[in-house]
Amino acid sequence: MNGELRHMLRDDDVTHEEQRQILELGMRFRADRLHRRPFEGPQAVAVIFDKPSTRTRSSFSIGVAELGGYPLVIDKSGSQLGRGEPVEDTARVLTRMASAIVWRTFGQERVETMAEYSTVPVVNALTDQFHPCQVLADLLTLAQHRGGVDALPGMSIAYVGDASNNMANSYLLGGATAGMDVRVAGPYGFLPDPQIVAKAEAIASDTGGRILVTTDPREAVSGVDCVFTDTWVSMGEEAEYAIRSKPFWDYQVNDALMTLAKPDALFQHCLPAYRGKEVTASVIDGPRSVVWDEAENRLHAQKALLTWLMGQLRADESLLA
Ligand code: CP
Ligand code: NVA
Repeated sequence: MNGELRHMLRDDDVTHEEQRQILELGMRFRADRLHRRPFEGPQAVAVIFDKPSTRTRSSFSIGVAELGGYPLVIDKSGSQLGRGEPVEDTARVLTRMASAIVWRTFGQERVETMAEYSTVPVVNALTDQFHPCQVLADLLTLAQHRGGVDALPGMSIAYVGDASNNMANSYLLGGATAGMDVRVAGPYGFLPDPQIVAKAEAIASDTGGRILVTTDPREAVSGVDCVFTDTWVSMGEEAEYAIRSKPFWDYQVNDALMTLAKPDALFQHCLPAYRGKEVTASVIDGPRSVVWDEAENRLHAQKALLTWLMGQLRADESLLA
């Protein structure tokens, strides 16, 4: 690795300028998947899953291989982490073999501990609190459809649904970092942690962004460039399925809600989606939906993120040429 050790544990682990560079490189990878291969020699990236995944698993596995590295995919059930080996000890072992560690797990403190004991970059591939890789892909999707990375500052986005989950938190911090007008709407009891809102507001005051948290989905989507939603029941909350479905019906993204956004507004969803619940089939399968580009952009955004974390992009901006 070249340069200072950096991690991506939450969306505000990068500055506005760093995020911009990562997204610019993501655009290069979009245009040419083999644009650069920064993993020289046989370097492995450990990709660990304590929760299920389709997109994150495939995009990191294929992405690391395209970068010239070897993805070592480890499932909780097949590892000693699943039998209670301390995170600290796992970090001490993996850090001696792998060039980076990517981890999908439960509490944010687990990835923080991994990073504390690691001498290689650690990437949060989703925790209960944040999903920063997804938001990088979502910003890349906006850049793809709306005139490039420089078009992001000042753009308005609305996230509607479970506003207390990992996606809501990541849109607040990641969107604020990009200098966007970020609106988040959910029912009482499912609003973001005030500390995260305060952090997003502090970032926005530096980047020229704006933050709005509301219980009114119509206020949130009014005139926005893109509407986002996510499942009402995140991984690990399955036991709450019955109590969680009820408060969210007013927050379904349907044709009526989409008419309040800009006439050419886009729709994104991190997936997996539950048609007829958080989004109607008419919206997710309709002309404004860019969810398949969004899913593909996980690959390009994460390759750019790993290239940045490994120090190559930080050492050599000509990678953007
Ligand atoms: N959006 C996302 O992270 O999808 P997976 O759960 O399939 O990885
Ligand atoms: N909020 C969802 C995101 C899935 C990618 C979850 O955590 O299950």
